[in-house]
Amino acid sequence: MTDATHPASTEPEPGVIPQPASAPSASPVHAPLSPASPTIQATLPAPGRGLNDDPLWYKKAVFYEVWVRSFRDSTGTGTGDLNGLISRLDYLAWLGVDCIWIPPFFPSPERDGGYDVELFTGIQVQLGTHQGMKTLLDEAHARGIRVISDFVVNHTSADHPWFIASREDPDGEYGDYYVWRDDDTGYPDARIIFIDTEESNWTFDPVRKQFYWHRFYSHQPDLNYENPKVVEEILDALRFWLDLGVDGFRLDAVPYLIEDEGTNCENLPGTHDILKRIRAMVDEEYPGRMLLAEANQWPNEVVEYFGDGDEFHMAFHFPVMPRMFMALKQGSSKAIREILADTPELPENCQWATFLRNHDELTLEMVTEEERQYLWNEYAPVPKMRLNLGIRRRLAPLLDNDERQIRLMHAMLLALPGSPVLYYGDEIGMGDNIWLPDRDGVRTPMQWTSELPGAGFSEANSYLFPKPIPCVPPFGAQDVNVADQQANPDSLLNWLREILAQRRKHEVFGLGDFQQIDCDDSILAFSRNQGSTHVFCLNNLTAWPQLAEVKMAGFEGRVPAVLSGSIGEAPEVITEDYRIELPPYGYVWLLFSDPPANDSARN
Ligand code: NOJ
Repeated sequence: MTDATHPASTEPEPGVIPQPASAPSASPVHAPLSPASPTIQATLPAPGRGLNDDPLWYKKAVFYEVWVRSFRDSTGTGTGDLNGLISRLDYLAWLGVDCIWIPPFFPSPERDGGYDVELFTGIQVQLGTHQGMKTLLDEAHARGIRVISDFVVNHTSADHPWFIASREDPDGEYGDYYVWRDDDTGYPDARIIFIDTEESNWTFDPVRKQFYWHRFYSHQPDLNYENPKVVEEILDALRFWLDLGVDGFRLDAVPYLIEDEGTNCENLPGTHDILKRIRAMVDEEYPGRMLLAEANQWPNEVVEYFGDGDEFHMAFHFPVMPRMFMALKQGSSKAIREILADTPELPENCQWATFLRNHDELTLEMVTEEERQYLWNEYAPVPKMRLNLGIRRRLAPLLDNDERQIRLMHAMLLALPGSPVLYYGDEIGMGDNIWLPDRDGVRTPMQWTSELPGAGFSEANSYLFPKPIPCVPPFGAQDVNVADQQANPDSLLNWLREILAQRRKHEVFGLGDFQQIDCDDSILAFSRNQGSTHVFCLNNLTAWPQLAEVKMAGFEGRVPAVLSGSIGEAPEVITEDYRIELPPYGYVWLLFSDPPANDSARN
């Protein structure tokens, strides 16, 4: 980074090597390839590239979720903070991240990781200050990285002053800010989401002597969106952060804003009306900012959250995620192919957000009961690995720490339609800790170096760490850390950086259309197409070598370039019947472009 683009507000941290963008050679992904190899060398992102003003930036972006409390502690308190995140922005720029998603950083009793908000316009004191947040935005922007913030629209903490006032004074200004009833019989068709903890969506409040409605923990009362004042309050709180410079929001738990008797209280028209108001405000007052929906629903219901391109810009594709894990275990692409075939087209200005893991349990809500039992048996054989309707494990342990499978899952994630959302630590294959409560086991400190006790996360005494640093092989900080993997050209981290760079160079992955390709079930085959650019993506879901046989009519006589893959070179297309062998859990991205990528250094 140059001084002009990289204000020197942060010191380099010990043990972590922020690499100047010009330094690393774009090394081949696996074994060295022959000079004649058509494998294309990635040009790494330029330093301080600055934000572009593309209004559709989110369609091409790679997102990265940072659990701030566990990322980097800058104060020696044992808790990660905003300044700590600032000190790691060079790393994220080096990796090739376009947008950071930060989960709630607002004042909170943290009984639900900060998703229990006490003040929508404040900052949790251990995490930093408003000035710190502003610096984070400026520093990220200087590196060409956008920042979206979580925002919890559906509920507050029971400690929020609105709720305290609401319980104490039913006729007062805040009396109607929450959903109160004299009994707990209302909305019986609404499911309970946190089934391991909650028995009802109603809880009796001994102060007001009424029941209040909550879709999540009983300490998270739902806001009453029938009250226009609530809508105005939320719009103002969003404006507050947009004024500070955030690039958008991940809006939490959006399907549950409005309740209606006789329904399951999800995805109701009134809920969509409110979300459209939020979007209209953003478009009118803050054009270019982005809204991402957390709506854990089936594809035909999620698409409603895009509206006609006038609701959300993006929404997580929840159903495809568990099916990727299912496909891998079954050695069959069927589950992925079926859900993608059931996924409707989106309005032109919209995009899916795809992911493998995040800060929650790996949710199995969007599968059938039979599929859930299958996935639990395969991926969570021990009861402690399960939570609610999901699995509280990280990516690497889920995949038996098999790097071939970790790479394959990422390769599919990065090539399928949508913008990928990575979860901190998965880029180095961090492990989990199932002995910690709730979802804490997938939120342990980032392992920057092998040096214990702090692993580059913190200089505090380790007894101050809210979540211990893993130290047991194969996932301890000595085994898995950023510094060692940065130094190793064959590491998972360097591989991921390389494939991200390839994805960035070819906007077909963000903007191109998607076509499934007939192939043996053991291989997930599809193409991404944009104008004269075509990328064929072939993914071997099995532990055996597989011969992929696909039709490539129209490409006869051409030799595709290997953009990324477990093979060095691809054979020429002689006839339309193309055959290529993939190693166990191997994958390949084959590029046909005009002019051909093989003939020039353009790519
Ligand atoms: C979804 C969030 O991802 C999760 O962490 C939280 O517990 C619930 N919403 C409730 O806010």
